[in-house]
Amino acid sequence: MRTAFITGISGQDGSYLAEFLLARGYTVHGLVRRSSSVTTWRLDGIYEAPQEAERLILHYGDVTDGVSLSRLFAEIRPDEVYNLAAQSHVMVSFQLPEATADATALGALRVLEALRAASVDARFYQASSSEMFGSTPPPQNEISRLHPRSPYGVSKVFAHHATVNYREAYDMFAVSGILFNHESPRRGETFVTRKITRAVAAIEAGRQEHLYLGNLDARRDWGFAGDYVDAMWRMVTADEPADFVIGTGVAHSVREFCELAFGHVGLDWERYVRHDDRYERPAEVENLVADASAAEAQLGWTPTVDFASLVAMMVEADRAPYR
Ligand code: NAP
Ligand code: GDD
Repeated sequence: MRTAFITGISGQDGSYLAEFLLARGYTVHGLVRRSSSVTTWRLDGIYEAPQEAERLILHYGDVTDGVSLSRLFAEIRPDEVYNLAAQSHVMVSFQLPEATADATALGALRVLEALRAASVDARFYQASSSEMFGSTPPPQNEISRLHPRSPYGVSKVFAHHATVNYREAYDMFAVSGILFNHESPRRGETFVTRKITRAVAAIEAGRQEHLYLGNLDARRDWGFAGDYVDAMWRMVTADEPADFVIGTGVAHSVREFCELAFGHVGLDWERYVRHDDRYERPAEVENLVADASAAEAQLGWTPTVDFASLVAMMVEADRAPYR
């Protein structure tokens, strides 16, 4: 039986990845930050299956605390480490650049260095991002130029290069998954897709009047998070370590997302969506479209959920509490 260690297990991807690995017989250890309120609600579903829940073990820790990481790795000696922890909100990274770099850039370095310090020969996955491409025109693939446009993107570039460097310098099985936007009903509420689908449900229920958004022209390659954790695992269990772009290859604008989400419940989005300058970013990433042909050819990975199904899934999940 294999043992995995996930930083960021309480996040959207961490919860899907934990379910995915537990279903394949793994023992899963997760790193959780101490907080004044409970942050592990995304893992609640796992406790409905006692046979899987007993193989899930959570530990307090933080990727800004290297000592805690070294101690945990020495104790657990995981076979696979997935570094998903990050301050992952692009807009917030402009307000908290230093804290973002600490968790998102140096956090990855600390995880890598803690594995070395504990002499743990684990396979390592780094959650890299299409934000690293920034202003590079689409489609973007593994050799496209990195030109980040935010402190978050800059931090992810550092973590990506650190991963490649540890692979080359120390012969570690370390891989970087360059994932394009992926969403789900578990998506954080301040990312644009979830902000829209929550508003659609609240407006339909008469609980909200308007939805305030920033740039409607930005285009993103949106996929389903459940598909993307499968890609992470395929990368970590491949014969050779390599970095891959993961995405659907199809992009839509924020405006198109609004149109479809409001349309799903028979509402005209233009009546409800208002512009608010506060959501405009100091530097924007205009257009992200993945060329994930290498992942398809070498990992056999393809997405299973298209844009319309993703939007419908998220709107339906947000409508449920009002029924
Ligand atoms: P998310 O929902 O924001 O989850 C982030 C996770 O990181 C949470 O569990 C959070 O804990 C944890 N975390 C933050 N700072 C930490 C720290 N200092 N120490 C330990 N844990 C910390 O993000 P996600 O959407 O699941 O994304 C997972 C990873 O993939 C992130 O690294 C993100 O940057 C990257 N990524 C995401 C996408 C996407 O479209 N979703 C695309 C490309 C890359 P709390 O619950 O306590 O906040
Ligand atoms: N969050 C947000 N809120 N975004 C808005 C809003 C708003 O009110 N109005 C317009 N947008 C636009 C943003 O300017 C951006 O162009 C687009 O919607 C998507 O924003 P987010 O959903 O916040 O995601 P992101 O693309 O910036 O970042 C996500 O994807 C990255 C991968 O490309 C995050 O999950 C990152 O962690 C991830 O790396």
